[in-house]
Amino acid sequence: MRKLLLALLLLGAPALGVAAGAEGVALMKARVDPGDTASLQRGAKLFVNYCAGCHSAEYMRFNRVAQDLGLPEDLVEQYLIFTDAKIGDTMQTAMNPQDGERWFGVAPPDLTLTARRRGADWLYTYLNSFYRDESKAVGVNNLVFPDVGMPHVLWELQGMPQPVYSDNGSDGLQVVGVRVPEGAGAMTEQEYQAATRDLTNFMAYMAEPVKAERQALGIKVLLFLSVFLLLTWLLKREYWKDVH
Ligand code: HEC
Repeated sequence: MRKLLLALLLLGAPALGVAAGAEGVALMKARVDPGDTASLQRGAKLFVNYCAGCHSAEYMRFNRVAQDLGLPEDLVEQYLIFTDAKIGDTMQTAMNPQDGERWFGVAPPDLTLTARRRGADWLYTYLNSFYRDESKAVGVNNLVFPDVGMPHVLWELQGMPQPVYSDNGSDGLQVVGVRVPEGAGAMTEQEYQAATRDLTNFMAYMAEPVKAERQALGIKVLLFLSVFLLLTWLLKREYWKDVH
């Protein structure tokens, strides 16, 4: 029993480990919902429009996305495929890795499994943590990914956030948050957070496409087990009536 408890604790440990971002920045809650198909559809659109130019999602096929997100294949071809990819192809980027490396110093990584590796909360926080930093080649920095090599590709939607400093005594000034000047982007703060939540939701779905199905199945199994428990209990009562 003790071993079992220990094993369970250890299983939980990695999850605890990623709960805090780099340098102890508190992570925002993404509250992803794999059952929210409308959110996943909006997220997919954002992904192909703003991310797929640099990043691939090479373990994901367009027709799988179509099927899971309840989208007809011709709509997917029209709105989600901007390259000469076919509906049965995986989501490759048009950019080749050598160019990526030359332009950004590091090739943009594949994003299929990122939500699983980093966690949805981290990803959501990352998309909300870019801030202006003229000392960097890409003009920005990120609270949870210091010295990030990726530009803030959603800046037109969000507006360019400014760093918020705190004076940490001997450490000098430290960036502890970001603030977007009012009206700087095409979206309000709430709209931007909703959009990045959709995007995070889509990426969490990509990282684990069967999650919605698994959860639905889990509920059915639990329902079945509770009915079964009731039946066995009734049966037991019936048998023991004669014994007493
Ligand atoms: C202009 C090219 C470009 C675009 C467009 C772009 N990225 Fe990136 N991205 C990069 C580069 C380059 C890196 C590597 C940064 C590094 O390691 O310093 C990166 C890294 C990342 C990482 C960190 C991965 C990890 O675990 O280390 C995430 C997450 C990410 N991008 C998400 C996105 C999302 C979501 C979008 C769409 C909104 C997007 N990117 C659009 C270039 C891009």
